[in-house]
Amino acid sequence: MSAIRFDNVWKEYGDHIVLEQITLDVEPRAFLALVGPSGCGKTTFLRMLLGEESPTRGQILVDGVPLSPEPSADRGVVFQRYSVFPHLTVLQNVVLGRELQHAKITGRLFGSAKRAATDEAMALLAEVGLAGQESKYPAALSGGMQQRLALAQAIMRGPRILLLDEPFGALDPGIRADIHVLMKRLWNETELTVVMVTHDLSEAFRLATRVIAFERNRNRPEERERYGATISRDLEIYPRRTAEVRRLATNRSGRDDPAKHGA
Ligand SMILES: Nc1ncnc2c1ncn2[C@@H]1O[C@H](COP(=O)(O)OP(=O)(O)OP(=O)(O)O)[C@@H](O)[C@H]1O
Ligand SMILES: [Mg+2]
Repeated sequence: MSAIRFDNVWKEYGDHIVLEQITLDVEPRAFLALVGPSGCGKTTFLRMLLGEESPTRGQILVDGVPLSPEPSADRGVVFQRYSVFPHLTVLQNVVLGRELQHAKITGRLFGSAKRAATDEAMALLAEVGLAGQESKYPAALSGGMQQRLALAQAIMRGPRILLLDEPFGALDPGIRADIHVLMKRLWNETELTVVMVTHDLSEAFRLATRVIAFERNRNRPEERERYGATISRDLEIYPRRTAEVRRLATNRSGRDDPAKHGA
């Protein structure tokens, strides 16, 4: 659960302005969907949040603190493809999520810590529908299964912010619908703030609490590099999600009973 603030952020590569004047406050536990044409800077935006790139101007704050200039376990990420390690089994990939979280200390887990991580990974795999697949290698899984594995690995790192870069874009519609249900459930059950890039507007509206669009104000070919994209639309989506309803209800009555509040 984390609040994210972009404070007049610009990103330029040499003379090429990719993003300009990005000012944005994302509330804790939001599910933010980001849409926009190809090349408008969506992945660049995520990479700045991840700490792989830094803004050329402006700053990014997470919970009021300027973002550390390197990737950290606070932020998990699932890319469109190839997020998992092909030479590790399904189970090893998820346990690795925990080892990466501790990477700065030991890089590996042993003894009881390893057993605990393994138990947790098994439970998480069952939750994403991969029970029984633990000893397979990713190549033996379908695309949808690989993305669910990537999701389990990212969540195993215990991030406060989950970044998704078109994670479901390559999947068949039926499998996508299943993953949407899973994604919603994981988001409802955790304290995650999610930022998801998608090309699919219906996916954005189905999952997100807020949808923002990036667009260039000027888009003639000769202007394309001199003007970056910026936020052109910002839509709050109602109704609020289950966990939000539950939190509001709890705050109001001191009880935790979402059913009474139509969630
Ligand atoms: N490391 C880099 N060096 C130079 N230019 C870059 C770099 N990374 C991205 N760009 C440029 O920034 C622009 C935005 O790229 P980005 O990948 O963020 O777009 P996108 O919105 O994610 O596109 P898509 O929807 O196709 O994934 C592109 O013109 C790209 O060439
Ligand atoms: Mg991209």
